[in-house]
Amino acid sequence: MGFLDKLNSGGGRNGLDRRGFLKRFGAAGALSGATLLGGRELVSAQVAGQHGQHSGSEHRLAGHGLGAVGRVDHAANGFHPSEILTDFDGGEVSRDRSGKTVREYTFVVADKEIEVAPGVFFPAWTYNNRVPGPTIRATEGDRIRIEMVNASEHPHTMHFHGFHPSGMDGVPGFGEAQPGESFTYDFIAEPFGTHLYHCHSLPLAQHIHRGLYGAFIVDPKQGRPDAHEMVMVMNGFDTNFDNENEVYAVNTVAFAYMNDPIKINAGELQRAHVINITEFDPLNSIHLHANFFHLYRTGTSLSPHDFTDTISMGQAERHMIEFTYEQPGVFMFHAHQTEFVELGWMSSFEVA
Ligand code: CU
Ligand code: CU
Repeated sequence: MGFLDKLNSGGGRNGLDRRGFLKRFGAAGALSGATLLGGRELVSAQVAGQHGQHSGSEHRLAGHGLGAVGRVDHAANGFHPSEILTDFDGGEVSRDRSGKTVREYTFVVADKEIEVAPGVFFPAWTYNNRVPGPTIRATEGDRIRIEMVNASEHPHTMHFHGFHPSGMDGVPGFGEAQPGESFTYDFIAEPFGTHLYHCHSLPLAQHIHRGLYGAFIVDPKQGRPDAHEMVMVMNGFDTNFDNENEVYAVNTVAFAYMNDPIKINAGELQRAHVINITEFDPLNSIHLHANFFHLYRTGTSLSPHDFTDTISMGQAERHMIEFTYEQPGVFMFHAHQTEFVELGWMSSFEVA
């Protein structure tokens, strides 16, 4: 049984867990000053069963000096983390008789195998064939109407963080759609902030970590200063179903923003909606290099709560962070749990 088969074997004694992943990193001698870069190389090299073939630093130093071996087939996945980053979906917009803005969406739940690291596949459950699902964006007070069509083999829901009536809560008994059925969620978007939605069918850990989650951004009526906005959903994947994640990422694909650094402009205000939906680990975190950010907790304030360079978040915690890079260059950002970094949660900005 090859490494990849083991990884995808659905767990059991033969599945290589993430501690195994990390032990092998150490054994291969890649844990040096370039640990942050070497992890990926080993993940992909091991997955491909190519021990020793890519041990040279030339691979690690390819591209921007942050490169890695192998690429995920984004086209086959049907989505690209670089696009998910700024893909805000305002829905089909109309007005009701009272003049209120109505935003309508159709969400189809379907099973789909996705590649979360080069050669590492995960049997995801998706909203509209992507993980995370579409980023819903509205202004506080808008009416949201979402028809969720369940085209999968399990019951599912959409449970929103925010205010809504009991019948719209998206939990078993209140807005759960059986296979082949649909349910329409209808509520007012409030309060303003950086929120999320996720499936709330049971067992909950399974329904969340399979990929049924996404960002729900509600803007304040008075708006916010102009900025380049991004959505960063911190997620993890238990590829062998042993209740531990083997792969970590922002917006699903390990090291995606190392291969394709996020291009931003010097002097321009950056606003990131950072959401932790990682299952199985009590905390995830984000740390920016060579900079600090203004932290707006849950995005529910117009003035910042903190000025820092690292924030830790439990599951479903999310924040809006604002920062500006004044000088051009390449700057990393990543989880500050080194284990997560080595397993994929490592990213970079390219400031021009
Ligand atoms: Cu579900
Ligand atoms: Cu929740």
